[in-house]
Amino acid sequence: MNTSEFSPHQDKIGQLAGFSLAFAIEDDNLRVAQAAVHDQIRWLAANEFPHRFKLVYFDPPFFSNKDYGTFSDEWTSLQAYLDKISGWVEQAARWMTDDGFLVLHCDFHASHYLKVRGDQIFGYDNFRNEWIWHYGGRRQPAILHVNSKHDVLLVWAKSPQSRFNAVFEPWDRDSYVAMKRQTVHVDEDGREWIWGHQGRGRPHAYRIYLDEHVRRGRAIDSVWDIPIINTTAKERVGYPTQKPLKLMDRIIELTTNPGDWVADFAAGSGTTGVAALKAGRLAWLGDQSEEAVRVMVRRLAQKMLIASGAVDPS
Ligand SMILES: C[S@@+](CC[C@H](N)C(=O)[O-])C[C@H]1O[C@@H](n2cnc3c(N)ncnc32)[C@H](O)[C@@H]1O
Repeated sequence: MNTSEFSPHQDKIGQLAGFSLAFAIEDDNLRVAQAAVHDQIRWLAANEFPHRFKLVYFDPPFFSNKDYGTFSDEWTSLQAYLDKISGWVEQAARWMTDDGFLVLHCDFHASHYLKVRGDQIFGYDNFRNEWIWHYGGRRQPAILHVNSKHDVLLVWAKSPQSRFNAVFEPWDRDSYVAMKRQTVHVDEDGREWIWGHQGRGRPHAYRIYLDEHVRRGRAIDSVWDIPIINTTAKERVGYPTQKPLKLMDRIIELTTNPGDWVADFAAGSGTTGVAALKAGRLAWLGDQSEEAVRVMVRRLAQKMLIASGAVDPS
């Protein structure tokens, strides 16, 4: 297969549903639609799409009052913005599995308002987490605002059945020992260990071997330090607001398993799809922008060629 064979075509099913929908379908594990979010979801219903999504990820415009060229983030009012985005969430929620998750990527411009809207849709008790993506970067002294270097990811479960996968990040012996603040013992084989406890007020119970603990890594928490894609990074495809693959890898690993369907109805450059396919998930991607669909299809085709060994990744 070469890249040019993987091109979007006007699919007759889109025409039958009565609106414009360009599709690229590859072995039924990837679908790409050029259409507005509402139209994509309307298509799912009209065509009795047989799957439900374990993860719905939205990285919509943030209410930043900016024009990004390929898409505009300018609104007549906050109310209009909230109605639009919460409408997307409400419609998409119907296409989730009963144990699915919806992740809404936003920032300080509207995150608190979106949290309220999402709670009205999923129920307050199904709100699971606020993940902070801290991307850091250049800082300047400022009087009105401290440097704002993070985004907010709001996470709702479809029901109490939804479960995250345990995800660990690497850490080293010295950080672990510093955190535990305990005497380190050495056993007869020279392996270091510390006491593990069964709970407050209960006696020492078992040995924790440092090498095992360090090998497993440290369970992640809700603040993630992941750099933005720098200007010379290989993964940069030139789409404004492109998110790092490392961020999407983590979200997909946490919320889905191989064979699950993932949806991103405003997918921009297709980062969600790249992460999903790499991890053996199936993906529905869409965007109303022709430019976004062109970029994501080219990017995904390239990834598929690399995965099949047809081209060299370097
Ligand atoms: C922040 S960008 C997504 C970036 C993406 N996560 C990435 O890594 O490249 C938001 C996207 O929402 C799309 N969008 C805005 N309004 C839309 C609508 N009504 N229907 C579908 N897509 C829409 C824009 O075209 C834009 O590509």
